Amino acid sequence: MAITITMGIQKGGCGKSTTTGILSYLLQEDGYRVLAIDMDSQGNLTELLSEQPSNEFIEKSVLEAMQYNDVKSYIVPISENLDLLPATNFLATLPRWIYTGKTYTGETIPFSGNPSLILDQVLEQVRDDYDFIIIDTPPSLSEQTTNALCASEYVVVLYESSNWCYSAIPNFMDSVVSANEFGNRDTKVIGILRTLNDVRRTDAKAFNEMIEEDYPNDVFQTVITRKAPTGRLALYGFNENPELRQALDQYKSFYKELIARVKGQ
Ligand SMILES: Nc1ncnc2c1ncn2[C@@H]1O[C@H](COP(=O)(O)OP(=O)(O)OP(=O)(O)O)[C@@H](O)[C@H]1O
Ligand SMILES: [Mg+2]
Repeated sequence: MAITITMGIQKGGCGKSTTTGILSYLLQEDGYRVLAIDMDSQGNLTELLSEQPSNEFIEKSVLEAMQYNDVKSYIVPISENLDLLPATNFLATLPRWIYTGKTYTGETIPFSGNPSLILDQVLEQVRDDYDFIIIDTPPSLSEQTTNALCASEYVVVLYESSNWCYSAIPNFMDSVVSANEFGNRDTKVIGILRTLNDVRRTDAKAFNEMIEEDYPNDVFQTVITRKAPTGRLALYGFNENPELRQALDQYKSFYKELIARVKGQ
């Protein structure tokens, strides 16, 4: 039975998609069977892992998997151990479908049930096929995010050390508590990952320390710094990337910490 982990924070540009891609890559390299799910209509994880424009997946995405209650038909193999459920811009129409039954193509597929438990329920079809399911979320507390949270046992909170990310944290933590109460997976935060750190900035250092004081048991000791090869993963991807080692290096200690927490060590 897969362990499902969502990467989230409703503040934009905090490293959610980059971290989801890297974590999925490191897990599959370690021999785990991984399903990466893109729940963000920006389709950044889709483009990072598939190395194709997300428009290639129109009518072949996680949105249709939810609407037709069929996951396996929409899975895209990426490597031997890594599969992807892609997203397109049309994932933004998920709420319209939930509340009106109309899909973006004009079809009517009546929806009944719990608007936040759609993903959790369809994933039952594939949970036994994977060791890990890793979900990327959009920068909002939308239906896409609540579905991801309610489908997950664990949540990694992405924290880019800045004032606006700091102020986003309490509401995000509340959303995880709601998913825990509302959903069926006992959803909980497994850690807060400090990302995109600019080591020269004293304000970033201060925000790093503030989050550690507020959530001493949650922060990972690893702090991810702003590093050009990590940023350029969006350009080169994971295959034939001449600087892959430099891009991933700093994530290896986060990976070890995360696995240790998941395994309860
Ligand atoms: N450690 C890093 N060093 C340098 N650049 C990075 C690093 N991590 C991410 N980036 C870059 O920073 C930008 C934001 O990262 P990313 O897209 O992963 O964040 P996000 O939280 O998924 O954003 P969104 O909220 O829009 O979905 C991207 O251009 C990405 O390539
Ligand atoms: Mg993203």
